[in-house]
Amino acid sequence: MKTIIEHFSDGRLTSAYFSLQAESMTSHIMPTYGRLPVTFERGSGVWLWDTDNKRYLDALAGIAVCNLGHAHPAVHRAICKQSETLVHTSNVYGIAAQESLADRLIDKSGMDNVFFSNSGAEANEAAIKLARLYGHQRHIENPAIIVMEKSFHGRTLATLSATGNPKVQQGFAPLVEGFVRVPYNDIDAIEQAIGQHGNIVAILVEPVQGEGGVNIPASDYLNRIRNLCDQYNLLMMLDEIQTGIGRTGKFLAYQHNSIVPDVCTLAKALGNGVPIGACLAHGKAAQLFSAGSHGSTFGGNPLACSAALAVLATLDHENLIEQVEQKGTAIHDGFAKQLGDNPHVVDIRHKGLMIGIELDAPCAELVKSALQQGLLINVTSEKTIRLLPPLIIDDQQINQLVETLSALIQEHTRLCL
Ligand SMILES: Cc1ncc(COP(=O)(O)O)c(C=O)c1O
Repeated sequence: MKTIIEHFSDGRLTSAYFSLQAESMTSHIMPTYGRLPVTFERGSGVWLWDTDNKRYLDALAGIAVCNLGHAHPAVHRAICKQSETLVHTSNVYGIAAQESLADRLIDKSGMDNVFFSNSGAEANEAAIKLARLYGHQRHIENPAIIVMEKSFHGRTLATLSATGNPKVQQGFAPLVEGFVRVPYNDIDAIEQAIGQHGNIVAILVEPVQGEGGVNIPASDYLNRIRNLCDQYNLLMMLDEIQTGIGRTGKFLAYQHNSIVPDVCTLAKALGNGVPIGACLAHGKAAQLFSAGSHGSTFGGNPLACSAALAVLATLDHENLIEQVEQKGTAIHDGFAKQLGDNPHVVDIRHKGLMIGIELDAPCAELVKSALQQGLLINVTSEKTIRLLPPLIIDDQQINQLVETLSALIQEHTRLCL
């Protein structure tokens, strides 16, 4: 078994490695991912190139991660500059970049303080711990959190227990207790659950469900949850890991509703690919953690925070968030025009640049046919094509995306459905 992977001095893997891949060598990576038969070597803006130098339009951005596109010069510069002086120090010391990033996030969100993690699941773990502390403070012995059907909150034990997808939970019993599940976009169900269970302390919800199928709730859904949380003294906890950092046309999706939650979690696009997550708290929720109640070795280290600071600065300098709604609408309208007559297209929906095209039958094969055409897409919840393009996508690239994918969908529905 040939396992030696040499590096050139500029850090690029040798082509020998890629030819080994082509020979389908045995991988020593645990098989947790159903991987597509492609390996990318480099990227620029919305484009990726594979090891055969074939170019792809990336309409997924690493699943809502590379909102500024690939190899953005500002992020590149920030990482290089920071790594010249300090990549990491422990959280037992002050970290200047972490303080600056917390200031910027508070400024942009209206929240009060931040805990930094390395991923979305960890940010949600922090939120779940805050809810438990809040419950115990209120002398509730077994505090429970209301969570939604079809939700996705991560793969750690607590977050997969919160997730509303049996496939994610299968084989991992016993699950973490303390979650009460209700249908998404159903305020009456939430109110009923609060009445039935005397131990509810928080509601955890995505402003738009991503993995669940790009499910967009009623426009006043979050306002009504805010009201219920105020009425029953619960924490309103928003998982903005996919919707945050400009994806829906506001820096955070709750800003469409002019409310402030008690807890909000971020990750994905915060570092544009450099791993960083954040759990933001407001008001009473901001007073719950104390020294020793939570922690992370890497969370908020100088390298990750420098990348995130560059992301936030670039979003502002390039006015990217202001353009999201117009771009999302252009994509939506383009598909509506091309696919409006197709009886197998059940719905085309979007919130900013979070776009879902729902078909009337499972369509996962479309991912492979799009790949062959040099287009990266995703199918979630079996029947919904999900698009999460970088926010920098331009008009010409939007046209290419709409034309290529519409043709693929027409062909797919003609041949397969
Ligand atoms: C809404 C939401 N929450 C949490 C997560 C988990 O984030 P991570 O994979 O960084 O742990 C995801 C990832 O897809 C997500 O979309």
